[in-house]
Amino acid sequence: MSELRKNFFWGNSTSSMQTEGAWDEGGKGKSVYDIRPATAEVSDWKNGIDEYHRYKEDFDLMKEMGMNFFRFQISWSRVQPDGEGKFNEEGIQFYSEFINELLKRKITPMICLYHFDMPLALSEKYNGFLSRKVSDLFVKFGIEMVKRFGDRVKYWITFNEQNLYNQLGASTFAGNKNVPEDINVVYQIAHNVMMAHAQIANYIHAHTDCEIGGMLAYTEVYPATARPRDIQVAREIQEFSNNNLLDVFAQGHYSKAVLKHIENYQINAGIKNGDFNILSQCHSDYMCFSYYRSTVVNSEKIPENCSVDDYLKYGGEANPYVKKTPNYGWEIDSLGFRDILNKIYHQYQIPVFPIENGIGVQEKYYGKEIQDDYRINYMRAHIQALKDAVEKDGVDVLGYLGWGLIDIPSSAGDMRKRYGVVYVNRTNHDLKDMKRIPKKSFYWLKSAIGSNGKDL
Ligand code: BG6
Repeated sequence: MSELRKNFFWGNSTSSMQTEGAWDEGGKGKSVYDIRPATAEVSDWKNGIDEYHRYKEDFDLMKEMGMNFFRFQISWSRVQPDGEGKFNEEGIQFYSEFINELLKRKITPMICLYHFDMPLALSEKYNGFLSRKVSDLFVKFGIEMVKRFGDRVKYWITFNEQNLYNQLGASTFAGNKNVPEDINVVYQIAHNVMMAHAQIANYIHAHTDCEIGGMLAYTEVYPATARPRDIQVAREIQEFSNNNLLDVFAQGHYSKAVLKHIENYQINAGIKNGDFNILSQCHSDYMCFSYYRSTVVNSEKIPENCSVDDYLKYGGEANPYVKKTPNYGWEIDSLGFRDILNKIYHQYQIPVFPIENGIGVQEKYYGKEIQDDYRINYMRAHIQALKDAVEKDGVDVLGYLGWGLIDIPSSAGDMRKRYGVVYVNRTNHDLKDMKRIPKKSFYWLKSAIGSNGKDL
């Protein structure tokens, strides 16, 4: 049995629009998030957890927990307000100091270059990643960031959860508007995004000592029964949602099954001469993914002649064998996590790196430490599953990052849904003092990290 690596990465993971705030400070341009209004249910995106002003305090908390790794995002519109043309030196200086403060605390940084917050100008002018022009502009932005920070930041990812661009709803993440989304649009967005990923990865490998990997939102999909069609459908979803991208990240080509599908359905994926040659040079130093839950697919609910792109829209159903999170009903399934670590590693033999995991729960602070035993149980089970993958299954795992371990608004902008081991004192409509208050899980995680995963 082997143990976790000595230099195992323990840390936190966030996006800029969910943390930074300061939406109109320091020369930042607007992103598509900055114009989303608050509603009765959610906050606007103007304040986050005020990380822009409080990052040193938050890094101190990470340090106190023993964390040695932090994946954060560079907001494109902060460093290049219009997404093209002039870079904003004040924004670049902000991230430069941010990185220095991490390094000072011996916390290794990982930069993510895009987390759905398209510069508004590019959304309005070119329709986001539906346009190859925006894909090319993103490559310029990405390469500039590597040139500016590659001396101090070794670990990079391009797109958060890149497989979200391969399914209906892709437009939301790609920052394109005013275009009815059909299957051609989805495939074009996905391909433009992949071309940008590949060019930045190829640049990094050709010109630097930095490392880069692709990143997916990996939901384990189980067949509802042993019915052969259920198993076939689950396999197809896996092939289209995950393997198709992992194949490019690791081996430089799309899945043959997906290429056949494009041909059979006469999908216009916007593939140009020379694209496959660029993709063929792509490879990854690690395979990153987020994991929160598993799901089930029942083929009997899927209409005949339904394309694989729509399977989960019809075929998803509840799993009676796993518990679900309160309020949100997300399946809690640590064995699914172990399975994914195994699948990716044994298929590609490249180190795997789960960089988002956690449980989102509604919590309120009443002046006493929040007793979040449910979060401790969730993390314990998932870290144990990861250890089993390493120690029993021989998987090479680089680290384990929790999502939003200092509370942040959810992906919908809802401050009620919290993932943190540290409470942040604000609500959707009242910013209060944003005080950081450790929960019970803070001390549990500190001990788990301090023992390199032995004390769970
Ligand atoms: C990931 C996203 O999919 O899940 C994050 O990268 C998001 O932006 C996280 O916050 C958790 O999802 P949610 O909807 O509970 O915030």
